[in-house]
This record gives sequence, structure tokens and C-alpha cells, in this order.
Amino acid sequence: AESTQQEQKIQVAESALALVPDDCVLGVGTGSTVNCFIDALAASGKRLEAAVSSSEATTERLAAAGIQVRELNHAGTLDLYIDGADEFDGHRRLIKGGGGALTREKIVAGASRKFVCIVDESKKVGVLGRFPLPVEVIPMARSFVARQLVALGGQPELREGFTTDNGNAILDVHNMDLVDPVTMEQRINNIAGVVTCGLFAIRPADVVLMATASGVIEF
Ligand code: A5P
Repeated sequence: AESTQQEQKIQVAESALALVPDDCVLGVGTGSTVNCFIDALAASGKRLEAAVSSSEATTERLAAAGIQVRELNHAGTLDLYIDGADEFDGHRRLIKGGGGALTREKIVAGASRKFVCIVDESKKVGVLGRFPLPVEVIPMARSFVARQLVALGGQPELREGFTTDNGNAILDVHNMDLVDPVTMEQRINNIAGVVTCGLFAIRPADVVLMATASGVIEF
């Protein structure tokens, strides 16, 4: 099953590559599915105007593949953003941040005209929230934010020994009721000390490409 999932990631990465126009400014997400995409991109020899990265890990992998990375502040509006997700629902709303890169991912997604999310079928859910919701917090606000998240019905757990690329902490929130993810995204992001939460509901993906054993399905 392990190799099947890896094959699916490669398959969906190749479908996404077919959507990348020549000479575009491309945002690149983070995670094992995106790593397959970076490998496919490098192997294709496709010309980009620039790539913008969503994490230090992706920057390193892009650089190793010989793909130059441009700072977002010098990139303007991006044509396309390709990234994975930890979960998605039937409205293309996502939970992201399993790798801890959620804030930069949300920034780069927000700066892009189109967000194509690449996943395998293990990521599909009816209602978001099976995967604990990552929330990036300013370190000094960690306990305060945790209490506020309890008041919202969740059970936050500090991601031990982990610091984000921005120098912050992650709370992984279990058992949140995410039937209305737009409202919950707004509420969580309104707590002082929260940098951002891993819900992508206010601005969902424009396209989800999901790999299955019998091919790639588009939502
Ligand atoms: C990184 O912070 C996450 O948002 C990733 O997009 C997510 O964890 C997907 O990673 P995989 O492709 O490894 O499942």
C-alpha cells in the first residue's frame, strides 16, 4: 500500500505539471506530494519565469534541482500555486500545516491567481477535522491561545520540539467541530497571538487533483 500511495503522488504531480504554462511565475507548496512535483518539474526541463517557495524545505529542494527561487516581495502576482493538503472536502476546502508550513503556504496561495491542490485519495473527507487542525502561534501567546481554542471546543496539543520557519510554535487542535469551516477559520484567526490556522476555507483551492488507483480525478 505504501508504494501505491507513492505512485499516486507521482501520478498527480505529473497531472499538475501539465497545468503549468511555460514562462510562468509559479508558487510551490510543501510536503511529500509537492516533492514529487518538484522532481517532475526538474525532470521536464520546463522553463519558468520564477518560482516562489512556501518553506525553507521547498527552497532547498528547488535549489538542489537547479530551479531558482524568487522572493515573494519581488514576484508580484503569481500565475499559479501548486500545493498538497492534509485533508480536503467536497467544496475544495482544506486543512494544511501537517508539515508546519501553513502560514507561508497561505500567503503564497493568497498571492496567486489560481491554486491547484494535489492529493491522493487518502486525503478526502466528508467533513474537515479528522486531521488535527494546525494553528501557528506567537510563542508568548501559546497558553492564552490554547485556552481560547478550548473555549471554541477543541483540544490543542503543542507540537513538541517544533519551530516554524517564522520562529513560532504550532498547536495541533483535535476534535474541532468544522462543519462551518469558514466561520471557524475567521474565529481562530481573530484570536490575538494566532498567526494563522491551517484551514483554507475562506479561500479554498480552485482545483483539487486527486490520484486514485484508477487515475486522477479533478474536483
Ligand atoms: C505543509 O505544511 C502541509 O500543508 C502540506 O501541504 C501537507 O502536509 C501535505 O503534505 P503531504 O503531501 O506530505 O501529504
